[in-house]
Amino acid sequence: MIMKKLEDKTVWITGASSGIGQALARQLNALGCTVVLSSRNETLLEVVQNNLPNPDKSMVLPLDLTKQEEFVPATKKVIDRFKDIDILINNGGISQRSFASETPIDIDRAIMEVNYFGHIGLTKAVLPFMQTQKESHIVTISSLSGKFGFFQRSAYAASKHALQGFFESLRLEEEKNNIKVLLAYPGFVNTNISQNALRSDGTTHGNHDENQANGISPGECAEKIINALLKDKLEVFPGGREVKAAKLKRFAPNTFHKVIKKQKPT
Ligand SMILES: NC(=O)c1ccc[n+]([C@@H]2O[C@H](COP(=O)([O-])OP(=O)(O)OC[C@H]3O[C@@H](n4cnc5c(N)ncnc54)[C@H](OP(=O)(O)O)[C@@H]3O)[C@@H](O)[C@H]2O)c1
Repeated sequence: MIMKKLEDKTVWITGASSGIGQALARQLNALGCTVVLSSRNETLLEVVQNNLPNPDKSMVLPLDLTKQEEFVPATKKVIDRFKDIDILINNGGISQRSFASETPIDIDRAIMEVNYFGHIGLTKAVLPFMQTQKESHIVTISSLSGKFGFFQRSAYAASKHALQGFFESLRLEEEKNNIKVLLAYPGFVNTNISQNALRSDGTTHGNHDENQANGISPGECAEKIINALLKDKLEVFPGGREVKAAKLKRFAPNTFHKVIKKQKPT
């Protein structure tokens, strides 16, 4: 019964070529949603599309989250084809593996551009349409790093913290238009996020870090996010025991600091 809520909804997913975004696309499509698949790599998006349970209910729409000028035309393409955007999932992102003292400001900006300005820019392009719809949902994928800082994640953690400020404000402002906002704070998920993380020289980290390798599967993460969406939750923390750290940080910050400083950065 509750699954019916998703039937025939149009869901636009960024970062759909890989990891959590790909898993969300598969599961939502299996539940009857039409999925719009976005990221930079069109070839990979087509592979994802061809492997969907209902590929006829999908669209590939290449989009670079650093290209703000493409957001309004891309939104128009989705509206022209499907009329509504019921759910926007702001998921595309890049991580970081570099110490703040060694990281040039250009790298901080590059991470902020994708993880923060990309999401809020696309949301602002979609909002005018959502405001005229009966109801809609925005899901933003933050991270546990959106709740506390960590070694070699200064720019990444900053970008994820910024998302919380923006989307919690937006939730309050848009409640009157029946636009709901879900913030997801995953812990470790076994995806390519660490391989693609930026180092201080702008190259990628290239390693599949132990934390990711031992993390939950993208499928499990997607399932938890979809359950939270169905229940109109405000936030969800998919992951293993590491997600308990968010509570520890909030209620016992000094103890948290003693624990977190002993953790390995990768
Ligand atoms: N895995 C984890 O442990 C974990 C934990 C907490 C939060 N998260 C968050 O989960 C989200 C998804 O990451 P993932 O773990 O699934 O990693 P992933 O497998 O590396 O996927 C990242 C996705 O983001 C897209 N992307 C990167 N830069 C982009 C850009 N400039 N424009 C458009 N799309 C871009 C990539 O596609 P293209 O390369 O094709 O553009 C890819 O589809 C991210 O926001 C990440 O911060 C992940």
